[in-house]
Amino acid sequence: MSAPRAVVTGAGPDSIGRAVADALAAAGWEVVVTTRGAAVDAHAWHALDLADRSSVAAFAGWYADHADRLDLLVNSAGIHLDLGSRWTEPQLADGHEIHWRTNYLGTVDLTTALLPALLVPETSCVLHVVSQLHERGTTDQLLGRPAPYDSWASYGTSKLGLVHHAALLADRYGDRGLRALAVHPGAVSTNIANRGLETRPLLRRLRNLARPLERRMLMTPAESAAHLVRVANDPEATSGYYRKGHRVDPAPAASDLAARAELATTTQEWLATR
Ligand SMILES: NC(=O)c1ccc[n+]([C@@H]2O[C@H](COP(=O)([O-])OP(=O)(O)OC[C@H]3O[C@@H](n4cnc5c(N)ncnc54)[C@H](OP(=O)(O)O)[C@@H]3O)[C@@H](O)[C@H]2O)c1
Repeated sequence: MSAPRAVVTGAGPDSIGRAVADALAAAGWEVVVTTRGAAVDAHAWHALDLADRSSVAAFAGWYADHADRLDLLVNSAGIHLDLGSRWTEPQLADGHEIHWRTNYLGTVDLTTALLPALLVPETSCVLHVVSQLHERGTTDQLLGRPAPYDSWASYGTSKLGLVHHAALLADRYGDRGLRALAVHPGAVSTNIANRGLETRPLLRRLRNLARPLERRMLMTPAESAAHLVRVANDPEATSGYYRKGHRVDPAPAASDLAARAELATTTQEWLATR
């Protein structure tokens, strides 16, 4: 029997995605990883920029040329760029608020493009790496209603959108063997904070000085990956939001079914525009 196949996005150095890819490969999976730029030597690699539709299409086309099925998609790529809360107005990518465009729209675009391969095996899994900060997200922002700008709320809203999206996938494709999960990876020492502190150079320097301490207080990427891989491999985990390896209730906004339906419609409209 051939090895199960996984795609793991956001597998740059010291990232959660890289640790997930390493753990899967050690367990015998064939793993394709993505970053935006530098190739990753340890695994089959392809470039992917979630904020660029042509890059997503190119990756999905390349994958379809090389593999006839996909057993697991781990959507770990993501950004949280304004940790210092400096932004007073949104930074845009491709015309959308950048966290929404990258974390939500980009991830949904990729998952939709890989869906045909995911529906080939009898059972398969999509795992969105979300965040407990989805509770900072709002339904107003999710549905594009006017609201004062707050970059943390925008990050949270991008993750709230993914919690809804995982639930939609499980509803729509569960009877075809697709499990779809939204998983908080824990507080993990990675490069996300350095990217997020670009607007706060002093804080960034302090953070780097304190990095050895941070590494002792937060989870390592490998520890986080162990939780994520366990949930991905658990056949009982068919849908829902997970934290520390257990299914828990997401924030109340993630259970708003009217908002979910409206989000599904607006997302479908966006996907249909090229
Ligand atoms: N670390 C935590 O404590 C924590 C907590 C909650 C949630 N999370 C979530 O966990 C996930 C992984 O984060 P991490 O901590 O591993 O951060 P990280 O070390 O910064 O890794 C993030 C990865 O995402 C990729 N990425 C960024 N923008 C992209 C884009 N436009 N298109 C494609 N890939 C892109 C990066 O690619 P490049 O290498 O090419 O830049 C990088 O490999 C994220 O979704 C994050 O929101 C992390």
